[in-house]
Amino acid sequence: MAEFHPVCRVGEIPEGQGKVVCVGKKIIAVFCENGEYHAIDDMCPHMGASLGSGAVENGVVTCPWHAWHFRIKDGTWADNPRIRIASYATRVEGDQVLVADEPTPLPPPPRPQPRRS
Ligand code: FES
Repeated sequence: MAEFHPVCRVGEIPEGQGKVVCVGKKIIAVFCENGEYHAIDDMCPHMGASLGSGAVENGVVTCPWHAWHFRIKDGTWADNPRIRIASYATRVEGDQVLVADEPTPLPPPPRPQPRRS
C-alpha cells in the first residue's frame, strides 16, 4: 500500500509550474494548476528531459526539449492516449503537499475501434 511523503509546502510551486522531488528512489514532477497538485514521473519517455521544468496549460505539461505533451492528472501522452507515464496520488495536509510513493494503477488502454466497411 502506498505511503504519502511530504514534498513541499502549499504555495511553494507557482501556478502552472512544476517542481522535481525525490520520493524514495523515484524522481517525480509535482505540478500546481488551479490550486490542485498533480504528480507524474519526471523523465520524459522520448529522450529523458525533466518534465518538471515544463510549462503547464489546461492540464497538460509540455516537455521542454521537443514539446511532447502529457496530462498531469494521469500521465497520458496527449497525442496518443495508449502511452502513459506513471502518475502518483497527491494530498494536502496542513501546509504540506504529500505524494504517494507508489504509482496510481493504470486503467486499461482504450481498445481500437473495429473498422466498418
Ligand atoms: S525529451 Fe521530451 S519530447 Fe523529447
